[in-house]
Amino acid sequence: MKLLMKAALRTRKHLSLVIITFSTLFILTIANQLEMFALGVLSNVGSDFFSEAPVEKVQEVSSSLVSATKFEANPLQFVMKYIKENFQFASNLNALILMLLMIAIFKAIWLFTSRYATQLLAIRVSRDLRQQYFEHIQSLSMNFYQQHNIGSLSSRVVGDAGQIASSINSCLTNFFQTPFTLVTTLCMCFYLSWQLSLVIFIGFPLIVLPIIFLAKRVKRVTRQLQVNQEKFASVLIDFLTGVQTVKMFAMELFSLKKYKEQNDRMAVLEAKTAKYGLLTRPILHAITTACLAIVVIFGLYTLKMTISELLVFCGLLQLVYEPIKKFAEENSNIQRGVIAAERMFDVLHLKPSIEDHKDAVDLDGFKDKIEFDRVWFRYQGEWVLKDVSFTVHKGETLAIVGPTGAGKSTIVHLMPRLYDVERGEIRIDGKPLQAYTQKSLRENIAFVSQKPFVFLDTIASNISFGRNFSKEDIESASKRAYADEFITRMPEKYNSMMAEGGKNLSGGQLQRLAIARALVKKAPILILDEATSSLDALSENHIKAAISNLHGEVTQLLIAHRLSTIEHADKIIYLERGEKIAEGTRDELLQTCEPFRLTWEAMFHSEKTRTPEVVTVE
Ligand SMILES: Nc1ncnc2c1ncn2[C@@H]1O[C@H](COP(=O)(O)OP(=O)(O)OP(=O)(O)O)[C@@H](O)[C@H]1O
Ligand SMILES: [Mg+2]
Repeated sequence: MKLLMKAALRTRKHLSLVIITFSTLFILTIANQLEMFALGVLSNVGSDFFSEAPVEKVQEVSSSLVSATKFEANPLQFVMKYIKENFQFASNLNALILMLLMIAIFKAIWLFTSRYATQLLAIRVSRDLRQQYFEHIQSLSMNFYQQHNIGSLSSRVVGDAGQIASSINSCLTNFFQTPFTLVTTLCMCFYLSWQLSLVIFIGFPLIVLPIIFLAKRVKRVTRQLQVNQEKFASVLIDFLTGVQTVKMFAMELFSLKKYKEQNDRMAVLEAKTAKYGLLTRPILHAITTACLAIVVIFGLYTLKMTISELLVFCGLLQLVYEPIKKFAEENSNIQRGVIAAERMFDVLHLKPSIEDHKDAVDLDGFKDKIEFDRVWFRYQGEWVLKDVSFTVHKGETLAIVGPTGAGKSTIVHLMPRLYDVERGEIRIDGKPLQAYTQKSLRENIAFVSQKPFVFLDTIASNISFGRNFSKEDIESASKRAYADEFITRMPEKYNSMMAEGGKNLSGGQLQRLAIARALVKKAPILILDEATSSLDALSENHIKAAISNLHGEVTQLLIAHRLSTIEHADKIIYLERGEKIAEGTRDELLQTCEPFRLTWEAMFHSEKTRTPEVVTVE
């Protein structure tokens, strides 16, 4: 509950809206109570206006009220006396109608205002939470994404923020309006008849116990339900992203089975929450009706109250019971919000494991060298990099080769600080990476990753990627990346829309787009991780030529399985199971590093038999 309120008051600008909401809820409560009094007035005198001798009857009733001895000081009589003196019902029927109408309009206005203010607060809280959540997860380092899957993260941002908002809505009415209604209305009940009010207290434990009992169960099932929703979302996302593979392997039944398991489990849990949620109202209804019956019998026969007084009393009692019943009914919704808030704040409270040091400075252009000094790194369990050291000078091209899983991509992922090293140090221009701000460090690195990422926008925006490059810059980078060739064949050229995940482009086209994106950035350090693996020999040759033109000007770190791609490298390091086996030029490695020689020969042989021209380029 504290978390829900924390969510509501997280931003200061909501405070005024919270205050307005509270005020409107309080006024609405008063309007509700006024309505009950109006009913009392009507039952006391209203019908007399339609009888044959209204004047005498009203005077009779009114005087009985004024001179009443049993309930002399009760508020109903006070209101009646006041109304009688000021409005002269006997001669003015319109005044009575007007009074009732005004109360009805008063209540209607505050009913709308309070509901709207509450909803508005919930909507704004939800919007801000979604925004804060996104900003926060953006700031978290890759370790966080290692531990959470997409299904779980997306279900939190879509489902949980909405759930929190809806619970805040219920919470405001139930936790703030209800106590206010209870206290003020009970005071009035006591004022009307303290003996009768005692009956209400007999009913209270009977009401509270089932609420507590059921709330606990609802909370437990809701927690299970939300965990299940995450799994459900993951199964669905897995299927949607891998639909092509599912179809090719004809594994629809397998996917359906996984989906069905989660779907059925969700239905079971939903049925349980529905049961606990719906049980409360009937139980409370039976208890409160029994209390009401006792009140009527006790009031009528023991205390000898008049019908109008009993009517007001029962009406007020209804005002007490109704929000309790509503609260109990909406409790499952509130509990869902509490758990959603717990999950959301779990993430919002996480501190990014990689943060800028307070003395971090901007990396203002790369000037001298990159050094890996006895670097050790692991994702979770086993060491992935073991004591890796090398140096790359400005303008040099370093190639990293080695069998699959050797740790090549990991090395280049450490450069922009996607992860921090566990032992050893990586330095740029003599200072460790931690000495620079992450933003400036990443601005100096252009990266083409093994799995190119594109987003839903035009080709041009995908290349410029949030930066302001001129049309000429974008086109020139695309030409060098040999992407211009397919972009200009698209109907709207650079303004053509990319489909989600780039599914309207081939693997090779995506790679060329990613290379264009890296080239347009004109960063002093260029990292290519298997950037041309999906390209045909001709396209690869074009890109190779473009990249080797950058030689000397841009410092390059290249990873490639096809060794033909790294022919122009100044230095090659050979990596195996996270360890650097050898370092040197191609010729040196051919002589000293057996695994490299074998790889080279295998590649040379297969490339020669496939496309002999590839290795003779340049
Ligand atoms: N995100 C990750 N979480 C956990 N382990 C990982 C992760 N990424 C890579 N690994 C593990 O680290 C090791 C090195 O992976 P890496 O991707 O660096 O290899 P690689 O040399 O680039 O291989 P490839 O040539 O196939 O791209 C592998 O054993 C891999 O299973
Ligand atoms: Mg790799």
